[in-house]
Order: sequence, then C-alpha cells, then structure tokens
Amino acid sequence: MLNRAVKCCNLKREHFLRKRILTPSSPSSPRPFHHPQPASALHCGGVSLDSLAKRHGTPLYVYSADQIIERLGLFQRAFAGRDHLICYSIKVNSALAITKLLTDRGAGVDIVSGGELERVLAVAPEAVGRVVFSGAGKTAAEIDLALTAGILQFNVESAAELELLASRAAKLKKKARFALRVNPDVFAETHPYISTGLREHKFGVDIRQALAIYKSAAGNRWLEAHSVSVHIGSQILSGEPFGAAMVRVVKLVRQLKREGIELKAVDAGGGLGIDYHSDNFDAAAKVREYATAIEGALSDFNGKLMLEPGRFLVAQAGALIARVIYVKRNGNKTFVITDAAMNDLIRPALYQAYHEIVPVTPRAGKPRIMDVVGPICESGDFFAHDRKLPPIEPGDLIAILDAGAYGMAQSSNYNSRLRPAEVLVEGAKARLIRRRETMADLLAPEIF
Ligand code: LLP
Repeated sequence: MLNRAVKCCNLKREHFLRKRILTPSSPSSPRPFHHPQPASALHCGGVSLDSLAKRHGTPLYVYSADQIIERLGLFQRAFAGRDHLICYSIKVNSALAITKLLTDRGAGVDIVSGGELERVLAVAPEAVGRVVFSGAGKTAAEIDLALTAGILQFNVESAAELELLASRAAKLKKKARFALRVNPDVFAETHPYISTGLREHKFGVDIRQALAIYKSAAGNRWLEAHSVSVHIGSQILSGEPFGAAMVRVVKLVRQLKREGIELKAVDAGGGLGIDYHSDNFDAAAKVREYATAIEGALSDFNGKLMLEPGRFLVAQAGALIARVIYVKRNGNKTFVITDAAMNDLIRPALYQAYHEIVPVTPRAGKPRIMDVVGPICESGDFFAHDRKLPPIEPGDLIAILDAGAYGMAQSSNYNSRLRPAEVLVEGAKARLIRRRETMADLLAPEIF
C-alpha cells in the first residue's frame, strides 16, 4: 500500500506545482493566544500582550513555553512504542531558552552549522551526545568541532563529505558515527523553496548510490555506519509522503543488512507542517497521522527511530507583536504600516507565506480590506495583502500569529533595524529571553 503511496506522491507533483492545495482541519485550538474576556487584550497563557508590549517595546516576539512542551509531548507519546530520539531542528528558532526547554525534556538537537553546535554547548552541553549534524556543506573546522564535542551522528550528504569526515576522524582519533542522507525521490506538497526530497535537489545522495557509499566506508576503522537519514521537505501536511520515503529507507536498510552492514537507527528528518490558515487545526491528530505513516513503513525494523521536527514544535507557540504607526489610504487601498518589517519576519516576502493577523485589543466596527506592511522601502515588505480585518487605528497593537518558527531565526538587520526582543511565557509568568538589540550591538563589528 505504501509503495502505491510513493507513485501517488510522484503523480501529484505536476498538478501541485501549478496549484497549492490547502487542507481544512479538525477542531481544537492550535494557538496559545486567547482573549480571557471578549473585550480584553489578547493573552499568551496568563500574560497580556498589551502589558508585554508596554514593558519590552515592539516589535516583540512572544512564545508560549507550555505549548512547546506540549508539542514535544505529542511526538514523545506518538512514538512511545519504540526506541526513539526527537532531535529539535534548532535552525527553526535557535533561542537558547527554547533549546534548553526541549533538551531538559529529553530532546536531542538537529544542527546544520558549527554555530548551532556552539549554541548547544553553551546551553545544554549534557545534550551533545544527542546531536545530529545535517547540512550539505560542512567544513573541516565544523567537523572537527563536532568530533571533539562527541556528537551522536553526522548526516553525511555526499561521498566527498564522507571522505573528509573519515580523514578528520583519523586525524583526531575519534570515531565518527554517520548516517548517509539519501534522497528518496518522493514529492511532497509544499512550497518549491522548502521541498528537498527530489533527485534534482541539492540535498543528500541518490538512494540508488547509497549502497556503494556505505560499502566504501565499511573497512574504515574511523567510520561507523550508524543510520540512514532522509528529509523530504518542510511544511508537509500529509503523512503519506513521509511513509513513502520511509518505505524506501527501510528497503535500503534491508539491502545493507544483506551486505553485512547493520544499521542501528533510521532518521526520518523533519517536515511536518501546521495549518497557518485555521483555528481548528488538530495538532494531536496530525502527529498521530504522521506516526501511523512512519510506523507503517517501519514495522519490520527494530532499531531506533530518530526525528528532526522543527516548525511543528514552535511555530504556533510564537507571535510577533507590532505597533501600528500609520494607517493610510492610496487610491482605493488601505495600508496599515507597522513598526515590524520584513527584516523581523521574512516568510511572507520569501515564500508568499500566510500568517494570521489579529488586533491585540479588537475594536468594534465593520471589518475592512487592508494591506499590513512594514516601513522598509520594498514592495516585498508586507505581512498581508488584501486582508479583511477589524478596524485598526494608529497606536494599536497587532499580533502576527504562527511566527515562532523561522521568524526570529531568519531575521536580519536590513535597513539598520535592530532585531526584536523575545519573551517566553511560562504559565502566568513572562521572562525576557533576548533583549532588544542596541545600536552599539549593531556597530560593534564595524571598522572605519
Ligand atoms: N531537518 C533538516 C535536515 C532540515 O533541513 C530541516 C529544515 C528540518 C529538519 C526541520 O524541518 P521542519 O520540521 O521545521 O519542517 N525557512 C522555511 C523552512 C526551511 C526548512 C529548512 N529545513 C520556512 O520558513 O518555511
């Protein structure tokens, strides 16, 4: 049945490239933001976003620790039946406090750079044995850092990288556990920029070449073939392509076993998506669907399962709070100009991504169509086009929802703008986890 799923996924490829499909979802609130009373300000847990904005200024990222912990729990429970390791993909939101929240609860970390490893070493050195290192362009210096730190696994993306890994491991006299990241050639319905599982993508090695590469490593005393890894893309809303990819992975694991190469683990990567459009997204049901698809493919594999979720754990826990500076009309269009911009949250500009926007304190009156934009001199500097929103006045606060993943992590200083502060809410308490940048921070590395 899952082999049929592989074919089905590939058939959908052409159709999808023309038209993006959105799936409606089932009940239960997916976001930790709510109005305790209809007229009160939006809250995160027990904390009013209005009070946070007054205290810390705007733009401001606010995250719910409770939701992040709950989402990790969904994965832990869904895979409780087998030995597993959930490696948080730290690129998604690399805040030290959030990394610690997850590693304290048993999560490992999926890193893609020496810098991300330094973050783990800074905040959770005890978790270094649960780190997997992905990425197509690891340098010798990064490999050395990871070998010395003693990470769990290198997800190797080419024969040349495996050669470099072997030579660095021999030099440092440290055994390197590796997984070959294979490209299963499975199409996943997502934005073309974040689809990664096709043969024409730069990621991984063609699954048909994997056997030969594993064999070439077999005699090397500094290399241990530990696992095989895949990552087919991000923001994937159906379990089907994950199952299809794992069918191919398990087939490879069997082939390797016949050749005397016995892997201890498989790494299914990340990629499970959320519904940015709906209030009724059922996160628990989505994780169950995902687990069923993966477990269905793994039924005769008894080793460890590794996962690298990112977005699913933190996206919906976060919102970007911005203050409205001006409301202006040009022709028949209304523009709400906020103090947040594309440098703070680039997803709409980069992927035409949809983010729900709500006023922090709603005003009575008829909803109107408007654009919500930042102050940067680029037409790409927008958060929403032609969005129907309740009345908004200068000075109001708005919350841009589902911004916990790939928000702050992809922010920049474009236009010499200082990056936002970040606050983590735990129950009724809020704490600053990153102060707002200052002009001194920005100018510090410059020489004139
Ligand atoms: N593992 C690997 C090897 C990855 O490349 C990624 C994400 C993940 C795990 C985590 O994937 P997730 O569970 O978050 O889907 N900036 C884009 C998404 C880029 C995804 C990059 N790789 C966005 O804002 O939508």
